Amino acid sequence: MSFCFNFDVNAATNPDDVEGNAPLNDKIGIVSKPANDTGNSAVAVKEAKEHFPPSNPLHLLDDAICETLNIGTLPPLHFLNETVFEKTVREREDAENVLSRTAEQRSDLISGVYEGGLKVWECTYDLLEVIEREGETFGGKAVLDLGCGAGLLGILSLKGGARKVHFQDYNSTVIEQLTVSNVLLNCQDDDSDNDDDGKRKGKGTSDKEEDCEVNPKYARRDALLPRCQFFSGDWRTFLTLASSQAAPLKYDIIMTSETIYNTAYYPALHDTLHKLLAPHGHVYVATKAHYFGVGGGLHLFEAFVAQRGVFTVNHLWESKDGLQRHVVVLRFKKT
Ligand SMILES: C[S@@+](CC[C@H](N)C(=O)[O-])C[C@H]1O[C@@H](n2cnc3c(N)ncnc32)[C@H](O)[C@@H]1O
Repeated sequence: MSFCFNFDVNAATNPDDVEGNAPLNDKIGIVSKPANDTGNSAVAVKEAKEHFPPSNPLHLLDDAICETLNIGTLPPLHFLNETVFEKTVREREDAENVLSRTAEQRSDLISGVYEGGLKVWECTYDLLEVIEREGETFGGKAVLDLGCGAGLLGILSLKGGARKVHFQDYNSTVIEQLTVSNVLLNCQDDDSDNDDDGKRKGKGTSDKEEDCEVNPKYARRDALLPRCQFFSGDWRTFLTLASSQAAPLKYDIIMTSETIYNTAYYPALHDTLHKLLAPHGHVYVATKAHYFGVGGGLHLFEAFVAQRGVFTVNHLWESKDGLQRHVVVLRFKKT
């Protein structure tokens, strides 16, 4: 059995087909949901729900194989190696049938079933580097990692002192088995992440280390976990759930990486950003210019945003080589 991640590779579809209903290719199985022009799918949407970490969550980390990402001056970010799901699929809870189906279909995503959150996508690394370069600060802020997958963006903000960090992913399997585990992995005492002389490992470099040592104490769990909330479900129902909380939050910063690949989701995504962003807040979007085989990408998303007339879009970074990738920031237009 092998998982296939990278739906931009070997795509056999026409890049000019930007309608979001591209044919299948042998690397990805995409089953697009039918959507009318308001973006309301004709099929049932996945109901949003909040997930609470188990009272004794350390069993999630039994036999964890983890990696550590060091980017410049950012704190080290620990995350489960994606092969853990491939190796342990038979022993894991799989109520959504996500683990078994992705393995069987060798799919990065199955639209409306599994939206790709079980691995770290490359634009997440781009956004982390931009955040480091821009000197973004998180202290005291309310942050949403929208379409979080592994949750590295939210985890960075948590380690950076955010007051509240909400993690949202389409799939409950991703939230329960990956995002929560990764937050726990990052509850290690930061001192254990330092070299003997007190310097951060990998300072000034961007580099991944395999097999980080898992510290059994997770000393900062009580300090960090209570500042987190975890949600699964479709953006439309997440918006309703988030707005109906006892103390509804507006986020100072929303970060979203590799989430604009399907044009059918743009109305729900845009509404979520529009309704949940604080008036002074900003949204980081990290994305490929075009998602071959799926149809969306930055240019179509920018056109959609311009048509709605709510946000300005500023370009912060673009890749110089290979498949074009971008980081942009959205802010409310001044009225
Ligand atoms: C390709 S994954 C990217 C995961 C992660 N942000 C990263 O960069 O590694 C896309 C993510 O977008 C989210 N997503 C896509 N469509 C969605 C929808 N209609 N409703 C809710 N979440 C959605 C899923 O949670 C999924 O994890």
